[in-house]
Amino acid sequence: MKPPAQTPGTGLDQGSGAFHCADGPVGGGPGPAASLARVEAPLTVNGTAHRLPLEDRALLLDVLRDRLRLTGAKRSCDVQVCGACTVLVGGEPVSSCCFLAHDAIGREVCTIEGYAAQESFAAVAEAFSRHNAFQCGYCAPGFLMTLKPLLERGALRSRADVEREFAGNLCRCTGYRAILDAICDLAGIAP
Ligand code: FES
Ligand code: FES
Repeated sequence: MKPPAQTPGTGLDQGSGAFHCADGPVGGGPGPAASLARVEAPLTVNGTAHRLPLEDRALLLDVLRDRLRLTGAKRSCDVQVCGACTVLVGGEPVSSCCFLAHDAIGREVCTIEGYAAQESFAAVAEAFSRHNAFQCGYCAPGFLMTLKPLLERGALRSRADVEREFAGNLCRCTGYRAILDAICDLAGIAP
């Protein structure tokens, strides 16, 4: 389950290049972002320690995608409904579109790029491929990052568990059946 929503960002948080540049607004001129406070903050992502100037209201998804170029986590609904932006913070799934980057300080952040580099990911990728689970794949990082801790804890014991735990991950292409089949397969749940 994802934690409650963090303070939603402003329009500036959501896609303005001016807001995301580490060294100042893009395109010249003192935009509104110039007045926002920034503090140098340590952020550990996929095992790599970074020090980034972070605005108070910077959202984790923006920092990952625009500052660290980790574009696996996707923006879709932007309001903590679809799960496309799911990453792990301290081992727990969060909707990074609504999660303040400052709240990740001191906690390990894991994205799909980090998960995909782990040895255990090969079996996950194989199962999803075998079930033809995804079509466009836009939702895939969110499903997979939701899945990681559930598999590691052995928390999925029935199809009902799977349906409940993934109710917050939306897919626009498939009928969900193949995705849930792949997850059940990985969790050792009989069809
Ligand atoms: S983009 Fe974050 S939950 Fe949809
Ligand atoms: S496979 Fe396209 S959104 Fe899920």
